[in-house]
Amino acid sequence: MRLLVTGGAGFIGANFVQQTVREHPDVQVTVLDALTYAGDEASLAPVADAVAFVQGDIADAEVVDRLVGAADAVVHFAAESHNDNSLHDPWPFVRTNVIGTFTLLEAVRRHGVRYHHISTDEVYGDLELDDPAKFTPETPYNPSSPYSSTKASSDLLVRAWVRSFGVQATISNCSNNYGPYQHVEKFIPRQITNLVDGVRPKLYGTGQNVRDWIHVEDHNTAVWAIVERGRIGETYLIGADGEVDNKTVVETLLELMGQPSDAYDLVSDRPGHDLRYAIDATRLREELGWAPRYSSFRDGLAATVDWYRANEAWWRPRKEATEARYAELGR
Ligand code: NAD
Ligand code: DAU
Repeated sequence: MRLLVTGGAGFIGANFVQQTVREHPDVQVTVLDALTYAGDEASLAPVADAVAFVQGDIADAEVVDRLVGAADAVVHFAAESHNDNSLHDPWPFVRTNVIGTFTLLEAVRRHGVRYHHISTDEVYGDLELDDPAKFTPETPYNPSSPYSSTKASSDLLVRAWVRSFGVQATISNCSNNYGPYQHVEKFIPRQITNLVDGVRPKLYGTGQNVRDWIHVEDHNTAVWAIVERGRIGETYLIGADGEVDNKTVVETLLELMGQPSDAYDLVSDRPGHDLRYAIDATRLREELGWAPRYSSFRDGLAATVDWYRANEAWWRPRKEATEARYAELGR
């Protein structure tokens, strides 16, 4: 299979490409990535010889048409992905997440290429903290932020291109990922690298918000299950029953990194901050036989701490500018 991976120099995409080279050696991978502030070719260094890398924009119809025309399938990870940035400047989110996805859909339509669309549980909005409910594929879309509304828009484009044009597409909506190669702007790597620098972790609001954590490797085995066995036109929710509140995540990191459990700061909250996400992955588990490899969040977190300790050369160049941006926001 000739596979085009967009956003393959980002966090989840780079892990997907590395995993694909290791576990699917028959697949020829081409990466299309614009190398925005969030992309780093160094994240592909361990597999650089096995992968073709093209620096380019998914909203550039010419490059997209050429690469899609030479592929059997596309897995589309490329996006502007950070909620805090979307609150500051929504335009790049509209451009990449909506117009970029439109550009890819038109190319897969022209060339009759299989397409898998990577999306987020945030399209469903949020749940109450004390509500036992979880998101299912039937939950109505109700996004809160510029980021999640552009992801929801892109999902709706995919659904329409399946129905109107017969595009061979699947969609997955996954919960919060953690693991190696995640940008230091995101919650878990920000706190690990703060602690390495002797800086106290920063919790938004009261730290009560809940996220449903999944190791990035488990997200990516689920994506492969959908690419290989998913039903065309279907939506699959990806999650590993990993609900934890933010305060508990920080306390666990403090313990793993040898600090007192109350050595964190409460900072101003994110506007419109979603309270809780939770995924019901029954369809993925029962229909496609998927199960996560990581059974303990604490062990996965400990391995992630070890990775950031061992790979300071990878994250250090982005740390100062990231914290300068947060300082401007008062967070
Ligand atoms: P990321 O920000 O780490 O990486 C995004 C990548 O896309 C970068 O390499 C960047 O250079 C590239 N990119 C951005 N704009 C581009 C453009 N116009 N053209 C080409 N490349 C471009 O993001 P991530 O966390 O790896 O997320 C990947 C995908 O997974 C996104 O679609 C995101 O919505 C989705 N997702 C993320 C999570 C999570 O927890 N991180 C959970 C569910 C779904
Ligand atoms: O649910 C999937 C989504 O998860 C993906 O679609 C997004 O691309 C990804 O960024 C992530 O979104 P979140 O907004 O949940 O992730 P973030 O890492 O920004 O924040 C996680 C939680 O931690 C959230 O409740 C905000 C909080 N937080 C974040 C930072 C950066 C803090 O308390 N302190 C912080 O310093």
